[in-house]
Amino acid sequence: MNGNKTLIAYVSKSGVTEENAKIISDVLKSNYGFEVDLINLKENSKPDLSQYNNIIIGSGIRIARWYGKANKFLKNDFKDKKVAIFLSSGYAGKPETYQDAITKYIDKKLAKNPHIKPVAAEAFGGRYRDVEDYTDPEKVKVWATELGKKLSM
Ligand SMILES: Cc1cc2nc3c(=O)[nH]c(=O)nc-3n(C[C@H](O)[C@H](O)[C@H](O)COP(=O)(O)O)c2cc1C
Repeated sequence: MNGNKTLIAYVSKSGVTEENAKIISDVLKSNYGFEVDLINLKENSKPDLSQYNNIIIGSGIRIARWYGKANKFLKNDFKDKKVAIFLSSGYAGKPETYQDAITKYIDKKLAKNPHIKPVAAEAFGGRYRDVEDYTDPEKVKVWATELGKKLSM
């Protein structure tokens, strides 16, 4: 398996993780020439991973939890593939609670899943029913650009 075939597997309920998955896909395709498949785990919870060099996992957070299907997907054995994680969270969008979101939703999750050693993991701001919007597409683009470099190494 050569090249940089990449899977972005995500679950989104309010739409932000899906929007960010598309931004990441666009950056990896247009800046790095990667071949990228976007899979909504609600539609296909068990994609065939064998064809991919890189797996990027996205989930929203509600009631301090990852969405169930993303959590389940995390249990896969990703073998020697490069893995990255991105979340959408209300807390992550506010400077005063950003670090708390990283600790609770990323660091603790990785401690419970030692088989995952991501090359990058980030939590982006989410949206509460269009009333509070902490999304930041530019931040996602910058992260995806750095991620593309790491996945190219
Ligand atoms: C019912 C509900 C519970 C939520 N609970 C949390 C939470 O515990 N922590 C947090 O950081 N954000 C929380 N949020 C904000 C979500 O993370 C935000 O809506 C994000 O956009 C979800 O990702 P999605 O748009 O891909 O579904 C909650 C939102 C809703 C609607």
